[in-house]
Amino acid sequence: MQLNANQLAASKFKNGIASVVAVPGSGKTLTMTNRIAYLIQHHGIAPESILGLTFTRNAAQAMRDKLRPMLNDVAARVTLSTIHSFCYTVLKDAGKSFELLHGKEQIRFIRIIMKKHKIRTLSPGTILREISLAKNNIIGAEEFREIYLDDPTMETIGVIYQAYEEEKTKSYLLDFNDLIIEVCRLLKNTPEIREKYQQTFRHILVDEFQDTNPAQAEILNLLVGKSKDCSFYVTGDDWQSIFNFIGASVGNLLNFKKTFPGSEQFILDMNYRSTPQILTACFNLIQHNVRKIEKSLLTQNPDGQAVLVIDASNEDDEAIKIAQEIQGLVSDKFTHHDIAILYRANSQSRVIEDVFSQNDIPYHIENGMTFYQRREVKILLDYLRLIHDPGSVVGDDALKNVINAPNRYMGKKFMAELEDFAMNENHNHLYDALKRKPVAVPYLKHNIREFIKLIDSLMHKIKNAEPAEMIMMLRETLDYDRWISEDDIPSPDDNLIANLNELQIAASKYKDIPTFLNYTDSFKEQNRNDKEGVSLMTIHKSKGLEFPVVFCIGFVDGVMPNVCGDIEEERRIAFVGVSRAMKLLFLSHTTTRMGRSAKQSPFLDEILGNK
Ligand SMILES: Nc1ncnc2c1ncn2[C@@H]1O[C@H](COP(=O)(O)OP(=O)(O)O)[C@@H](O)[C@H]1O
Ligand SMILES: [Mg+2]
Repeated sequence: MQLNANQLAASKFKNGIASVVAVPGSGKTLTMTNRIAYLIQHHGIAPESILGLTFTRNAAQAMRDKLRPMLNDVAARVTLSTIHSFCYTVLKDAGKSFELLHGKEQIRFIRIIMKKHKIRTLSPGTILREISLAKNNIIGAEEFREIYLDDPTMETIGVIYQAYEEEKTKSYLLDFNDLIIEVCRLLKNTPEIREKYQQTFRHILVDEFQDTNPAQAEILNLLVGKSKDCSFYVTGDDWQSIFNFIGASVGNLLNFKKTFPGSEQFILDMNYRSTPQILTACFNLIQHNVRKIEKSLLTQNPDGQAVLVIDASNEDDEAIKIAQEIQGLVSDKFTHHDIAILYRANSQSRVIEDVFSQNDIPYHIENGMTFYQRREVKILLDYLRLIHDPGSVVGDDALKNVINAPNRYMGKKFMAELEDFAMNENHNHLYDALKRKPVAVPYLKHNIREFIKLIDSLMHKIKNAEPAEMIMMLRETLDYDRWISEDDIPSPDDNLIANLNELQIAASKYKDIPTFLNYTDSFKEQNRNDKEGVSLMTIHKSKGLEFPVVFCIGFVDGVMPNVCGDIEEERRIAFVGVSRAMKLLFLSHTTTRMGRSAKQSPFLDEILGNK
């Protein structure tokens, strides 16, 4: 591939500091990989001394894929990594012993601390978000408390923050943010280690630099070698900064020249990815943002088709119309692999998956699980499976999956004993065995009795209740939403809760449980995870990728822009979505959503140039 003059200049950059500020599709990633190849092949740099960092696993993989044809086996000797996994390795190499605290464990951990401090007015989710934001901005617990002396809520969070840090240290635990903070500290306080890394990685390249938060920027500052034969090279696009909500600071890119006086700046404004029609749509949208670097968005690509809008009455209709378009596209010149469906929230995949499977359209969820396999959804389905047929192998598997959801403290040992008991006593199946097994421990006995009472009562209702009703009963009786979200007041905007609501809507199309279960089982098949199929993913996951055909769906006010989001950040998210398209871009919206009337997203008129 022939690089243009600006790309070539950037890719030949050898030593010193440089930033590449560019528009989407202008070859930032391509230029960066070319630069890596050039360093090795023309400047004789050892591949081991190059560190390429990016923010998602997808992007790191995409970079490796581009590098391999240029360097063959040598490509494997270059370190390409996400910044988090790089930090993890640094800490392990420094001999630090720790376990990662994340997910449910982290929430449980903070809950215990909250209980100790008798905090009932705040949710663990809120507290963890604030702590994480503070850490991304390198604000420690003490400083946090000083900053918020006059704000009672934040003061409370500060108390928990401090206790959280102390408890973690005692138990040798680190959360994801700590990986960054600890490496910051390590590099700052231990000159030998800092110098070791500076010696090892003499050339550091960072893609999607607009997504760095202050803590990450600090690490980069510490890692960059000061000697003349080192280099630090970043590329980014402020228009695509979409992680501000977790503390990323686009200022790192905007102020790069000030932070590194004398650094070179390259501007790439020629887009190679998209048709002029798609680029006009992108530009129309982003110009409504006030805070941005002014750039033009040029292309020499030939004209394509106009951006197409799909008007749908509801989500099903939207998915059906998309499926019809896709069938037309694949009978023409595109393959399923060329097509991506992008959405703002995870739960939007459900309707698309349903309609695709009914129409035999192969698809896969990029770096994620298909709807009916997601944990919060699968547990409810397993309850239905158990209730429907407790005396079966399926029922046994389901029981194992639901027995501790929510936690009933049936540990591994107990479950092994139960299985032995079932086998030896000829109670062929676990549910039956559970009813008969003598249990001495009082709390277990109590929990088992309650569990059996629940399942039996639901089994009783199964003849008259429809699947959606059953799901609702389970959610209510188990206080399931609260358990799954770990928030005291689960919000419908929570991803997990949105998935449960979607499940209930899906179930409402079925009159009886076996038919519904059969239907959801059909999603286990191979073609639901077909890498050659249509890609489904959130816009956040699509960053850095490109597809010949893109459907950006759900242009509904409240979805995109999302109700909770900052409008400019939401606009950048939509911008990232539409700028993934190479040849064809479809935008869809519905006049109702979840059964209620819905307003069209203002972004739609902006994109179409009507505003
Ligand atoms: N000089 C060029 N000639 C032809 N195609 C190019 C050139 N530069 C980039 N491309 C293509 O444009 C697309 C976008 O490149 P990419 O590196 O992903 O851009 P960015 O990282 O800036 O979004 C890719 O398909 C790439 O192969
Ligand atoms: Mg890129």
